[in-house]
Amino acid sequence: MGRVTDFPEPTPLRGHGPARVIALCNQKGGVGKTTTTVNLAAALAEYGRKVLVVDFDPQGAASAGLGVNPNELDTTVYDLLMRSSVGIDEIVRKTPVDGLDLVPANIDLSAAEVQLVGEVARESTLARGLRPVLDDYDVVLIDCQPSLGLLTVNALVAAHGVIIPLACEYFAMRGVALLVETIDKVQDRLNPRLAVDAIIPTMYDGRTLHAQEVVERVRERFGDKVTQTMIHRTVKFPDATVAAEPITTFAPKHTGAEQYRTLARELVAWGVAA
Ligand SMILES: Nc1ncnc2c1ncn2[C@@H]1O[C@H](COP(=O)(O)OP(=O)(O)OP(=O)(O)O)[C@@H](O)[C@H]1O
Ligand SMILES: [Mg+2]
Repeated sequence: MGRVTDFPEPTPLRGHGPARVIALCNQKGGVGKTTTTVNLAAALAEYGRKVLVVDFDPQGAASAGLGVNPNELDTTVYDLLMRSSVGIDEIVRKTPVDGLDLVPANIDLSAAEVQLVGEVARESTLARGLRPVLDDYDVVLIDCQPSLGLLTVNALVAAHGVIIPLACEYFAMRGVALLVETIDKVQDRLNPRLAVDAIIPTMYDGRTLHAQEVVERVRERFGDKVTQTMIHRTVKFPDATVAAEPITTFAPKHTGAEQYRTLARELVAWGVAA
């Protein structure tokens, strides 16, 4: 099909910031949001980018995936949202990956969804909380929970762009229309700069005709927004999750690690990431 198959090595940055903020969103569960957040973040950090991952799911999977036990934390993103006396510098922590920091989450966050409802400007609470550190990072990746509720709307208000991971399986597109409608509403009412940056095919199994058909349909529907890079299905991803590490450090030579590096290069080439 004449597609470019690789992308240039990102040029080193002279300084850092201001960050481009990207929300990884899909209300469908288990499509690779957290895996993409953690591994894209680690790959961008390898290219010298300063990256902040915001875990915005009460399950705390991104925190755990970056080696932080979310249930042992005193301060999390919950405190950033709900306690005005707590600043983000008290919440951000380093991860074992150089250049990659984390705003962790745990089950406390599930209460915020309810508590925020009574707040003034409840949709922009996360945006306000993140603002003080945006100049310190090149990219901020927000790992959303599988829902289109108030927390996800907060992520969309804080973001410049949205990345939608789509698992290459039956019903991949189910719910995407509703997601796009939600993004359009937030763009119209709350955050005019918001755009869909990219759609990333994940869990691709090239041995099945079916996965190929799904990707074809996704490309027909979304055209250039779909990355050329596809993340293939491999058990190395759950293995890396168990090891609480990005695949880029857990199995640096594995094709899964290479695919996230290629994705990072593609998104830098697109201007989506720094
Ligand atoms: N490319 C892949 N190949 C095989 N397994 C994968 C791949 N990507 C993710 N997984 C596994 O699939 C499961 C779901 O992935 P992940 O947690 O990233 O999805 P999610 O969209 O964040 O889920 P949730 O909606 O629950 O937050 C995890 O166990 C993960 O390790
Ligand atoms: Mg997740």
